[in-house]
Amino acid sequence: MTNKKRGMYKNLTSYGDNGFSIFLRKAFIKGLGYTDEMLDKPIVGITNTYSDYNPCHGNVPELIKSVKSGILASGAIPLEFPTITVHESFAHPTSMYLRNLMSIDTEEMLRAQPMDACVLIGGCDKTVPAQLMGAFSTDIPVIQLVTGPMLTGSHRGERVGACTDCRRYWAKYRAEEIDEEEINEVNNQLVPTVGTCGVMGTASTMALITEALGIMLPNGACAPAVSAERKRIAEETGRVAVEIASKDLKPSKFLTIKNFENALTVLSAIGGSTNGIIHLTAIAGRLGFDLNLNDFDLMTKDTPMIVDLKPSGAGYMEDLFRSGGLPRILVELKNYLHLDTQTVTGQTLNELIEKSKYNWKQEIIRKTDNPIFEKGSIAVLTGNLAPGSAIIKQSAASEHLLYHEGIVEVFDNLEDLAERIDSDDLNVTKDSILLLRNIGPIGAPGMPEAGLIPIPKKLAKQGVKDMVRISDGRMSGTASGTIVLHVCPEAAAGGTLNIVESGDTIKLDVKNRSLELMISEEEIELRKKNKIMPPKIKRRGYNKIFHENVLQADKGVDFDFLRPIQ
Ligand code: FES
Repeated sequence: MTNKKRGMYKNLTSYGDNGFSIFLRKAFIKGLGYTDEMLDKPIVGITNTYSDYNPCHGNVPELIKSVKSGILASGAIPLEFPTITVHESFAHPTSMYLRNLMSIDTEEMLRAQPMDACVLIGGCDKTVPAQLMGAFSTDIPVIQLVTGPMLTGSHRGERVGACTDCRRYWAKYRAEEIDEEEINEVNNQLVPTVGTCGVMGTASTMALITEALGIMLPNGACAPAVSAERKRIAEETGRVAVEIASKDLKPSKFLTIKNFENALTVLSAIGGSTNGIIHLTAIAGRLGFDLNLNDFDLMTKDTPMIVDLKPSGAGYMEDLFRSGGLPRILVELKNYLHLDTQTVTGQTLNELIEKSKYNWKQEIIRKTDNPIFEKGSIAVLTGNLAPGSAIIKQSAASEHLLYHEGIVEVFDNLEDLAERIDSDDLNVTKDSILLLRNIGPIGAPGMPEAGLIPIPKKLAKQGVKDMVRISDGRMSGTASGTIVLHVCPEAAAGGTLNIVESGDTIKLDVKNRSLELMISEEEIELRKKNKIMPPKIKRRGYNKIFHENVLQADKGVDFDFLRPIQ
């Protein structure tokens, strides 16, 4: 007998006559060749995020085929549909500006179309967070599948991969250590296959913490994009999607704050991207959980970093895959996790860990008593320069700069930076602190990954590789250096960053989690009073929505109106 609460009967178009709505819907979809028998089955939607502008999703058509096989074999109808997709290098002004738009698109398509569950296929940095944010707001059964990491390339005998090596080779080129011929040559090797960046950048971080959250298949994060294993994972994801459809296993039924705490612990233990904190905060926020950054610091400050991947370590994602991936990491981290959390498979984290047989000898996933970085790969800072918060990935910083007092050189915005950074007259030494403002959520807009301020050319040529750099922007997870990011409130929102002047002194003290502008509170208030803010610009469309509603970094850069109604 037809179940009129599922499949084609869901989310009927409003004509004022439900009988006519289903009659018309069936008439149209039969144009694709479906029979009544097929149309009586449950429906699993599949997001198609393929685009010629997104090479990280180049394998999505293949994955969709495998997901469909799994869904059909389990007795449901797979229906794929497009949503927007966002690639890091093909999004102006920056991909983060579009993340919330993609989340709205995903949410509304999941809400509008008939489906009993959905397989979300993402991969490139902003896509997985956007999909989870949107899907969690709809609270229908979903399971995440990622496209998987790309393989590594080879340049003059050296193994290379996007995008830590992209930045490293570009820095060498800027310092005139390599010539034009070599920079062009390595450009052909950095992205040798489709798939996501092969280091512990944001995409890898999001894949691993999504698996830790329990909304992806076990071992679903690491299989390379072009491997047969990736297709098997896709097929199995299709099968599990039919199961969660039959159980109506909504995210709110099994995800608790403990799942998010596990994800934060894993983020710290893998030396994950700082972007992961912003995204996880936004994702949790959609389910009504407030992730407090100070709690994150307290919770993870004793968590050892045990995964040896670039940019903090040496390996690539394909090495992590061969070393056992997340299940092996979880085995090592058992004492730091909530083991009773449920996952989309219906099993607890502990049950999954018990099934893991990954204990062969390897170098990529360390024991907790032999870590890559002893504790707390990401530290949360506060102080008069960042009353809200700021963060630093200390595992990817220079140890001698983790306590540093220096004279600051201020860049007012990205244009100012581009104009002056390579000037011979720039008043900097290796001990200076570089400060870039107006690249926060409102300022740029969209908080671009420009926090990795380049070393001024005149210093790079002298061999300077790292300096303390501070901004209200973000940094790619593939980058490294002593970089303070996400300073909150941002300059464009009237934060202290806005009144710093070149020649001031700033003290960074990571051990004591502090970031201080060394002037009095009275002087700060006086400068704030005298500072003239730029006039408001008239805006339209998405740009208007963005500027009027975006939250600060400590709230995940989500839109205020997308969080649950209290
Ligand atoms: Fe897509 Fe790095 S650019 S994952």
